[in-house]
Amino acid sequence: MKTITIGLLGLGTVGKGVVTLLQKQAAKIARTQDFRFKLKSVAVHNCAHHRNDNLPAGTILTDKVTDVVDDPEIQIVIEAMGTIEPAKVAICQAILNGKSIISANKDLLATAGDEILPLAKTAGVDFFYEASVAGGIPILRVLSSSLETDQITQITGIINGTANYVLTAMDREHKDYATALKAAQELGYAEADPTNDVQGIDATYKLIILSRFAFGQSLSLKDVPRRGITTISPAQLISAGQLGLKVKLLAVAKEENRQLFSFVGPAAIPASEPLAHVNGVQNAIAVQSDALGETTYTGPGAGAAPTANSILSDLLATGDDIVKGNCGREFNSYRKPVSAKPLTAAPQQYLITVEGTGNLLSIISSIPTLSWQQQATGRNYWSGLTPVISRDALEELLITLKRSGQKISYLPIANSWQPVLEKIEE
Ligand SMILES: NC(=O)c1ccc[n+]([C@@H]2O[C@H](COP(=O)([O-])OP(=O)(O)OC[C@H]3O[C@@H](n4cnc5c(N)ncnc54)[C@H](OP(=O)(O)O)[C@@H]3O)[C@@H](O)[C@H]2O)c1
Repeated sequence: MKTITIGLLGLGTVGKGVVTLLQKQAAKIARTQDFRFKLKSVAVHNCAHHRNDNLPAGTILTDKVTDVVDDPEIQIVIEAMGTIEPAKVAICQAILNGKSIISANKDLLATAGDEILPLAKTAGVDFFYEASVAGGIPILRVLSSSLETDQITQITGIINGTANYVLTAMDREHKDYATALKAAQELGYAEADPTNDVQGIDATYKLIILSRFAFGQSLSLKDVPRRGITTISPAQLISAGQLGLKVKLLAVAKEENRQLFSFVGPAAIPASEPLAHVNGVQNAIAVQSDALGETTYTGPGAGAAPTANSILSDLLATGDDIVKGNCGREFNSYRKPVSAKPLTAAPQQYLITVEGTGNLLSIISSIPTLSWQQQATGRNYWSGLTPVISRDALEELLITLKRSGQKISYLPIANSWQPVLEKIEE
């Protein structure tokens, strides 16, 4: 039986999960594959932090990334260190040295994937990154293999566990944003600096990767309109609940007529939809496609064991390619020219909330032209559901309402959007 030597960059949550799962599943791998893995070296930032880590006997711990990426014996490098620049340098060096790569690094793949993935193809090495989107949910492999022959028309994801945890806590316990975030940080579900999670940046990175697989389109950060959850109030969540809606941070990409409309931000989802019931740190991705209709993939979006499982599935695929001499095939080879458009510009329905101590009903009745579809009221708030209106009409409405001096907020209603399509010349 062939032994494939691997190296690991990073021994944090994900790296430790990989070491544990590799040891736990070694016997099963040996039973089902023609090869076994040997973890030769692990590079970390500071070896002193890892004195008590239980590495397999003989595994080398180093604080030099080059001990892994330049080692001629190592055939596969697993990058689980995060960050963009040092990881990019390490991965490029490993590719140039002929090593296949497995990475969990969505920041790097979203921002520099178009640069580093072709390097791997040219070098004839594998580059898999299932764990970079939705941790334990095997969504990229589903898109690139099971749904390869289907035509995907929309992807809607709850793909940031921290934001979903905070919104769920605000909804269930009627906490304000700051209190819910603090609780999430104390439980280890939010980082000390939660910016990327609560501002929708992390979800945008994942949507960029998903869009390459689903639509063959390489979006950049500036293509995707983004809003965070930091200004969401308990009144918005309570009134949404009164109207049969749940508020979630959604990442949406929708293709119509070779135009890809996208958006990341909080939106209200009808409680009848599966995504409305995805709570806490769970992730879910709803895929709409011509042949299957809607399929929803739900599971843990982070954590040591789920993420390590995705990495190990990449490891088996790479091991198989090495043994069969098939390395160099792309994880995703779908490319299709489509133009990127903001979904936020599309006519859609909105949930408008007015909060304050003024006479809220008289403020609302000062807007006679709008026929509210449904309304909800509470002690210090009023919320109303608009019909489908244009973005300009929304802006006008917000300006009018803001004159009242009350706090005015809005949320789009998921799937109410009606993109205005440009005519595409054949
Ligand atoms: N956590 C999850 O559930 C999850 C899920 C999906 C994807 N990911 C992705 O997986 C990656 C790792 O996440 P994580 O949560 O495991 O991070 P983490 O706990 O912060 O661990 C990072 C590891 O990388 C090492 N490291 C950092 N900079 C380094 C450098 N310049 N040279 C060598 N080693 C370096 C650190 O060394 P020291 O220990 O010495 O500081 C640490 O062991 C990230 O890209 C993340 O986005 C994470």
